[in-house]
Amino acid sequence: MGSVPGPAAGTTDAQTTPTPPPDAVGRGNGGAVPAPPGHVALIMDGNGRWAMARGLPRAAGHSAGAEAVRRCVHAAISRGVGYLTLYAFSSENWRRTPDEVADLTSLLRYYLRHKVAELSREGVRIRIIGDLSRFDDDVRAEAKRAEDVTAGNRRLTLVLALSYGGRADIMQAARHVALAVRDGALDPERLDEALFGRFLLTADLPDPDLIIRTSGECRLSNFLLWQSAYAELVFLDTLWPDFNEQHFDAALDVFARRERRFGARPSL
Ligand code: IPE
Ligand code: IPE
Ligand code: MG
Repeated sequence: MGSVPGPAAGTTDAQTTPTPPPDAVGRGNGGAVPAPPGHVALIMDGNGRWAMARGLPRAAGHSAGAEAVRRCVHAAISRGVGYLTLYAFSSENWRRTPDEVADLTSLLRYYLRHKVAELSREGVRIRIIGDLSRFDDDVRAEAKRAEDVTAGNRRLTLVLALSYGGRADIMQAARHVALAVRDGALDPERLDEALFGRFLLTADLPDPDLIIRTSGECRLSNFLLWQSAYAELVFLDTLWPDFNEQHFDAALDVFARRERRFGARPSL
């Protein structure tokens, strides 16, 4: 058998099995300031309701939401979070009106063109997950450029989920596994969770420790379905355009008080 092909073969630092990292467990560090979650993922929801409440078009909510992204990135950097994943556009968001999709794509294009240099100066590495083939060529090219020019940065890895769906990710991984088996490159007996994780779009990323969703909705909406197995979930009523560093800190406080068990016995 040869080596396993696939989109992420060769990457080995994925953490798909829920082994509790000692410094990420919310308690038991002798009263010291708790370590921040290594990976925070955010479902940025509520732009439309924010705009409607002000009698504005939905596009105004999306623009205000883009400002909240900046505040969130700065909060993550200053709190020492290593990975921040932002759910910016789901595979189901293509069902919105063509006008709204165009507004969202224009915003994305603008930020990729004009804000990446600033993020790079701050030490942000950009990674993009999702089915980019559905975007126009120029957006795809900007996305690739953003990843390339920031590839050497280490302060924060900012993962943008664009045209992303958890089920679609699992499906494409399953397809690549099937092809590898068909081609004789993978023995199905060798397939375990860690190896399967290497076929996912998130192969080089740790699983999220904390998933925050704004706007009061309490669902994952097809976000990181495989990777969220042992994530702590925090739902905030705040609408995304109102999100600021205080909300980020509040979610981190909730996280710090949670006891993560990973299926083991609760501590006494
Ligand atoms: C989140 O805000 C932005 C995207 C999903 C792209 P929404 O546009 O979903 O806002 P609501 O949920 O309608 O308020
Ligand atoms: C989830 O929000 C997707 C993003 C935040 C990008 P939606 O507004 O699309 O989710 P639903 O439709 O309320 O589940
Ligand atoms: Mg919504």
